[in-house]
Amino acid sequence: MTFSIRPLSDVLAAEVRGVDLREPLDDADRAALNEAFLDRHVLCFRDQELDKPAQLAATLRFGPLDVHIQRNKGDEISLVHTVSNLDADGNPKPEAAAKGNLRWHSDKSYRTVPSCATFLYAVKVPAQGGRTEFANMNRAFEAYSAERREAFRGMKVVHDWVRSCRKSGEREASPEEASVYPPVAHPLVRRHPESGREAFFIGNHASHISGMDREEGEALLEEIEAHSTAERFVWRHQWREGDLLMWDNRCLLHRAEERAREARVLHRTVTRGTSPF
Ligand SMILES: [Fe+2]
Repeated sequence: MTFSIRPLSDVLAAEVRGVDLREPLDDADRAALNEAFLDRHVLCFRDQELDKPAQLAATLRFGPLDVHIQRNKGDEISLVHTVSNLDADGNPKPEAAAKGNLRWHSDKSYRTVPSCATFLYAVKVPAQGGRTEFANMNRAFEAYSAERREAFRGMKVVHDWVRSCRKSGEREASPEEASVYPPVAHPLVRRHPESGREAFFIGNHASHISGMDREEGEALLEEIEAHSTAERFVWRHQWREGDLLMWDNRCLLHRAEERAREARVLHRTVTRGTSPF
């Protein structure tokens, strides 16, 4: 395949043109895309035409699937999750969009084995607004002094889905979710398993620091998140229909910038990661 990869900002992200994700990738193509992914953390494949089976097949070319506890009601392929702000009649209903997505997070960081990459395909998106924001946790970590970086390296953060639901004011976690996802401690600074780079592993699912006074730990996490999501570490994606965005949860935080007032429908798949270390 002949394709081009172009950086979209100094901070992170690259645009990929000339790839049809319905087609298989040979080893050289996959290696080039993986290198760009490790370097840029977000790849935006433009002009894709993917139905759900095609998105599933494309995802599996990059790694094993991570299955979500939420199911699509009445949807034949539950392995591809529909992210939508439409009501039952197909009209945009901004309040239907999940509140938790408005807070900085790394997908499934509350699991013992969090997600690797998230793939989001734009089926229907507003021409303006409804952007997704990303923050580079490797650069944010490196911007601290050597002394503080060393202190951070010894800390563990408890990620807690039940508390995350309460913090975002969305809903209570279900008893099933609470038993499947008990609080889990991860390193505050995780080493990327492929690039070897260190990055903060924080966000809305992060609750407090292990072994530290609760309030002190919460305040420290707030400080780190505010530092890490400053403008100089952030890039925003304005969606176009046909975009397939692939991002690395191991070294990024992301959030929805706002609730879109117009119709916004995306299809999501996720690949399974490894235990943070
Ligand atoms: Fe997310």
